[in-house]
Amino acid sequence: MEKFDACKIVRKNCLSFEPYVAGKPIETLKRELGLKHIIKIASNENPLGPSKKAVKAMKDIAEKVYFYPDFNSTELKMAIAKKFKLDIKNILVGAGSDELIEIIGRLFFTKQDEIVISKHAFIRYQMAVRLMDAKSVIVPMKEGLYHDLKAMAKACTKDTKAVFIANPNNPTGTYNTTKEFEDFMKSLPTNRYGLKPVVILDEAYHEFASYKKDYPDTLKFLNKYPNMIILRTFSKIYALAGARVGYGFSSDSIVDYIERIRPPFNLNMFAQVGAAASLQDKAQVTKSLAHVRKEMKFICDGFKKLGIKYVDSVGNFILFSVAPFAGKDVFKKMLCEGVIIRAMDEYELPGWLRVTIGTRKENELFLRKIKKVLGK
Ligand SMILES: Cc1ncc(COP(=O)(O)O)c(C=O)c1O
Repeated sequence: MEKFDACKIVRKNCLSFEPYVAGKPIETLKRELGLKHIIKIASNENPLGPSKKAVKAMKDIAEKVYFYPDFNSTELKMAIAKKFKLDIKNILVGAGSDELIEIIGRLFFTKQDEIVISKHAFIRYQMAVRLMDAKSVIVPMKEGLYHDLKAMAKACTKDTKAVFIANPNNPTGTYNTTKEFEDFMKSLPTNRYGLKPVVILDEAYHEFASYKKDYPDTLKFLNKYPNMIILRTFSKIYALAGARVGYGFSSDSIVDYIERIRPPFNLNMFAQVGAAASLQDKAQVTKSLAHVRKEMKFICDGFKKLGIKYVDSVGNFILFSVAPFAGKDVFKKMLCEGVIIRAMDEYELPGWLRVTIGTRKENELFLRKIKKVLGK
């Protein structure tokens, strides 16, 4: 085949990209290591699975797959609008909140812009910034691995177009309080466009954190802060990660422009009906939340017994330290034991690992194997 050197024509800022490394799929590891029994507790999925109503809705629509889906996801947007008592013109949907993060970047970020992001925040924010050749301004976290919202507001300049906040944050599992959030919003300076920076508030784990009294109910602030975009997902609590459905809320003007560049048909028909049906099943949510709370305690008790340091988490995952060992070495040893968790090097946390709350059986196996691998 004739050689074609794509690097000569690729946009310069894309040359240094490395493919995103997601949690290793079970089948890949089976092939690589020849193991029969493998558990994956690596990508913050919900092991109790989706609503039966969602599964039925997706099966029922299978015969209609020769049609394009509704390019606007109207029924789903209406279901979301009804649940949150909002107008449909304030609702966003994406193929995962991940797609929304990228669309927001494509819409707003240019080479002249600074985007303020916390260190150890969800890695996809920096990737969205790099994709558009804008500049990430990285602000260190506070002691205890919290977003330092005061320092983030101080880091905003005339050139700051946006700020990303994950609340709670992945991978640290920590959250910022209503007071911290409000103080932050109030203290944001005006940029060279005469506007406050766009605040992208990523609440992928919102439902898990809501039991905390001081966790912000940000929807209440939607009218007050039209520069805010709230992002949520059906991947976590609703256990539809494989269907790829994210959603969000913002002011009319922001939603209007996002809608103009959003790819049509970005949500396939299974995603649309599965997500809408999930909203009808409160029991699936209640059960999943109770499970995570109970199993989080089980894992934390296990860590305490083994003398493993961890960060208190309000998500469905937990960050723990394996120092003085390197996280990636422990990660590899755990793979050989048939347990897929997540190394944290890309988050600049090389002595740490992240594990997702699994079923009781998975959590027991995880604790047994980590004890063995760490020689505890
Ligand atoms: C903080 C955070 N935001 C966004 C996402 C993306 O989720 P999805 O694209 O599945 O909606 C994740 C996934 O792990 C996440 O942890």
